[in-house]
Amino acid sequence: MDRTQKMSGRACGKLILFGEHAVVHGYPAVVAGLPRGATASVAAAAEHQLTLVNGRNGERIARARPTEDTKLGKAFNAILSKLQMALPINVNVTIDIPVGAGLGSSAAMATAAARAVATFAGMTDNLSVIESAVHESEAIFHGSPSGIDAAAALGGGAFKFQRNGDQSSMEAIWVDPVRIVICEAGPPADTKEMVQKVTNFYHTRENAVGSVFALISELVDEAAPALAEGDWQRVGDLMNINHGALVSLGVSTPALDSACHIARQAGAYGAKLTGSGGGGCVFALTDDRTEDVLEAWKDMGYSGFEMTIP
Ligand code: PMV
Repeated sequence: MDRTQKMSGRACGKLILFGEHAVVHGYPAVVAGLPRGATASVAAAAEHQLTLVNGRNGERIARARPTEDTKLGKAFNAILSKLQMALPINVNVTIDIPVGAGLGSSAAMATAAARAVATFAGMTDNLSVIESAVHESEAIFHGSPSGIDAAAALGGGAFKFQRNGDQSSMEAIWVDPVRIVICEAGPPADTKEMVQKVTNFYHTRENAVGSVFALISELVDEAAPALAEGDWQRVGDLMNINHGALVSLGVSTPALDSACHIARQAGAYGAKLTGSGGGGCVFALTDDRTEDVLEAWKDMGYSGFEMTIP
């Protein structure tokens, strides 16, 4: 371990293209790692400290010590314990995506931090320790997550993800490069609360909610080849149906619905909320209609940004 050096780690944010919520209950989902995410640096210090900085404006988001009884303090403690990091360190994580908005910021933070700490501790080869540090951190933030955010943060790329009990499977899929726009339409939402809300709904209306999950699963199966073929109208139609299914699960909001409507009216192939809902982001598949949608959102007071997938 070189204690004088500064070590760094990176991780992707994620965009769930299809299948959020249903994925928690064992149905498949399609996710893509985003080119933006989080970058962490680690250096020896007088005491353990984790600082999160918003990479878009340079402002400090939060600071924590591993002894603190906060989600961030506990997550930091989990990362340090899994990587057996007794030597006091300063971990600085710059996050380049909106926080708490369904783009996987907590998994990106944990993955970048765990990678940087592992490099500092000379444990980079031990991928399973890094993975379990990230999973433990995610459980602190999200309760019982499907693991889709962690998988995207660790691996990047686009893939079909399915949870099977404690195990999960991933199947890489090809996405013909395409332009999308993302809009933060609502205030950050609590993923744990939204997942609990849908789970409770499932328990009280098992047949109806089970049918919605089955529909979402069919959309996932149809989306994979459509994404590979670059059949954007088909992908967009499937996105619109998936958004409708999420509305029926009770996780959309008027602001998310309105951002989707505006995008579709401005020519997007399709639009849907992404992540847990209750606030956060929508994304629209735009390709050559990108500028029109960004302009329409701007006119209605929504600010969006563009990305290319994968
Ligand atoms: O953390 P979020 O808001 O991106 O949501 C994650 C997706 C869910 O399916 C709602 C939860 C999960 O663990 O898969």
